[in-house]
Amino acid sequence: MGRVSNKVALVTGAARGIGRAQAIRLAEEGADIIAVDVCGPVETVVSPGATPADLDETVRAVEATGRRIVRAVVDVRDGAALRTAVDAGVAELGGLDIVCATAGISNSGPALELTEQQWQTMIDVNLTGVWQTCKASAPHLISRGGGAMILTSSIAGLRGLVGVAHYTAAKHGVVGLMRSLAKELAPHHVRVNSVHPTNVDTPMIQNDMVRKVFRPDRENPTREEFAEAAVTMNMLPIPWVEPIDIANATLFLGSDEGRYVTAVTLPIDAGSTQR
Ligand SMILES: NC(=O)c1ccc[n+]([C@@H]2O[C@H](COP(=O)([O-])OP(=O)(O)OC[C@H]3O[C@@H](n4cnc5c(N)ncnc54)[C@H](O)[C@@H]3O)[C@@H](O)[C@H]2O)c1
Repeated sequence: MGRVSNKVALVTGAARGIGRAQAIRLAEEGADIIAVDVCGPVETVVSPGATPADLDETVRAVEATGRRIVRAVVDVRDGAALRTAVDAGVAELGGLDIVCATAGISNSGPALELTEQQWQTMIDVNLTGVWQTCKASAPHLISRGGGAMILTSSIAGLRGLVGVAHYTAAKHGVVGLMRSLAKELAPHHVRVNSVHPTNVDTPMIQNDMVRKVFRPDRENPTREEFAEAAVTMNMLPIPWVEPIDIANATLFLGSDEGRYVTAVTLPIDAGSTQR
């Protein structure tokens, strides 16, 4: 207990999935949370969006740890709204130490068949939204005398994946952003790293669209049939990791245990990128 005692963490995409797990795990270890999520559908995404009730559940779970949480329903593409939300959270909680840029979307299609809107929305949310998050929060970390940013990329930030060129381009872009920011912010003792999950058991993959991509041979693939195909992506014989696995890596990078770790691309991928 107490690995991030009395720190404050911003988490985007906090309503569900990896973002929710990060918020809860950091709170369990002593951090107060600023939780940001759009809580609604994003254009071009065919799987169901997060809801205000999802963010309520994150708030409930964080408060159950005894820590404080400030929530904001904001789209990470809206830099001005994001800055307002971060500034308000910082004013209420007294500062900012850890930033988890986790909000993201996915959809799929062959590279040459993606629509302009699919391409642009992907870059806007998964890359520009991460930059907006860093931009809104960096001044607070600098004024605190240091801090840590954890940008959620993907194995698609380290290698090419078929059928998600726009996602892959955005996630590689996150690595470039991370590497430059790590250099620019190092003099301020702000560390910037990226995490690269393989498939994670969240609504982003547990939906009909992704299951069909993995099991084109099935009309309505079940979770088990999806798992049989997903296991072939990883070196360890598992179909996917859990949100807590990303949250634990985030905790290490965000805590003082990771105090000299910066500019690192950390796979949490069951060996997928080396397979
Ligand atoms: N699930 C996976 O297999 C997997 C693998 C590698 C990387 N990732 C990455 O992890 C991150 C989290 O994904 P997840 O699996 O938890 O998915 P998820 O769909 O369960 O959660 C994503 C959250 O981000 C929010 N969000 C989306 N667009 C937003 C926007 N414009 N502004 C604010 N919030 C927005 C959603 O509302 C949702 O709550 C994403 O960046 C994703 O690309 C996921």
